[in-house]
Amino acid sequence: MNHFEYRNGQLFAEDVAVSDIAAAVGTPFYCYSTATLTRHYQVLANALATVGARICYAVKANSNLAVIRTLAQLGAGADVVSEGELRRAIAAGIAPENVVFSGVGKTRGEMDYALSVGVGQFNVESESELETLSQVASARGVDAVVALRVNPDVDANTHDKISTGRKDHKFGIDIDIAPVLYARASRLPHIRALGIAVHIGSQLTSLDPFRAAFNRVAVLTRELRAAGLTVERLDLGGGLGITYRDEVPPHPDDYAAVIAETTAGLNVDITVEPGRLLVGNAGILVTAVILDKITATKRFVIVDAAMNDFIRPTLYNADHRVTPVRTGPAATVLNKADVVGPVCETGDVLARNAALPDLSPNDLLAIESAGAYGAAMSSNYNSRLLIAEVLVKDDKFCVIRPRPSYDALLSLDQMPEWLTH
Ligand code: LLP
Repeated sequence: MNHFEYRNGQLFAEDVAVSDIAAAVGTPFYCYSTATLTRHYQVLANALATVGARICYAVKANSNLAVIRTLAQLGAGADVVSEGELRRAIAAGIAPENVVFSGVGKTRGEMDYALSVGVGQFNVESESELETLSQVASARGVDAVVALRVNPDVDANTHDKISTGRKDHKFGIDIDIAPVLYARASRLPHIRALGIAVHIGSQLTSLDPFRAAFNRVAVLTRELRAAGLTVERLDLGGGLGITYRDEVPPHPDDYAAVIAETTAGLNVDITVEPGRLLVGNAGILVTAVILDKITATKRFVIVDAAMNDFIRPTLYNADHRVTPVRTGPAATVLNKADVVGPVCETGDVLARNAALPDLSPNDLLAIESAGAYGAAMSSNYNSRLLIAEVLVKDDKFCVIRPRPSYDALLSLDQMPEWLTH
């Protein structure tokens, strides 16, 4: 459920007309709903209360400070994968001990910074990372709390590019060698090996892969304990899918039931790392029509947002709903169109074969379910400015990231001395 709905033919975000935001802020922009973020968090938190799991929001999904803070105020910790994300989580008000530092390639510098602020857990993905972390922690004279991220060799049945749990993926430690490495970790100086982590992929629409992966982790936990090792924590990753169009993903209650079933009797502290589930349907991308272009074979609606602002359709063939912000009379004829941006690439497509009415320049379109991996994956390609982000709460809205100026964009570059005369 989300809080974007039509009132008298006009799209509203909570109690604010989206067209009013467009008039004030200009297009394109991302628009997020506080009520939707809150609802999604609460539905998940209620479900997970049965297993006492902690929610560490995967900041990569949407790293705007106001979005992170909204979730932090509801009780979320954070899952981060870089020093930048860690700094964002802290700046948004999340205590470092409630942050999990994931990622397959942490640098020494990142480890050292994370130790300096007292990050709560490192999810370690290789033997060499474990050794480096031990050295960095020893040099600092502090302990690093570690969970070993295992690769359970489970197929997540999702898009190839966002599937992470098979043996041939770069992620995690082969679950078969995890016992040896866990024993090693438990002896390394300044490493406190306390748990196992797993994350098999994103946008999962079935519980079966979760069940398979969590079962393997439970078996491993028992094996490690039988060998006299300490396993106090399980981090079960993120990945629960959302509805973009017709998908029917599992309800958080059923996800929690799988966690309860697979971890029964283990008596461990459980963490999950959801990203998309919390923010995906809490955001839309609002864009204005530049022109409607009919070619011999196709209709293209060319808009002012592009693949650099929202890359999911280009990168994953993601199929997002697109709707006019103002709907016309019910009888309006709808014609199929590809909604495309001005970037000089054929792959610059925001929606394929969308049924849309006749559109005029400046008409507004909303691309739905764009709250996760939208703004966070945007770039300046074609020297386009990053777009504004707006957060709505009830009848208020606030620009939570303004569009930078062209001067700011150009000032990022520097001229070498030999080119200045
Ligand atoms: N934990 C770890 C270790 C992860 O790698 C990820 C996502 C998450 C948690 C959060 O997963 P979620 O709950 O959001 O599914 N850009 C892609 C998705 C990439 C996901 C990467 N890892 C997309 O737009 O579909």
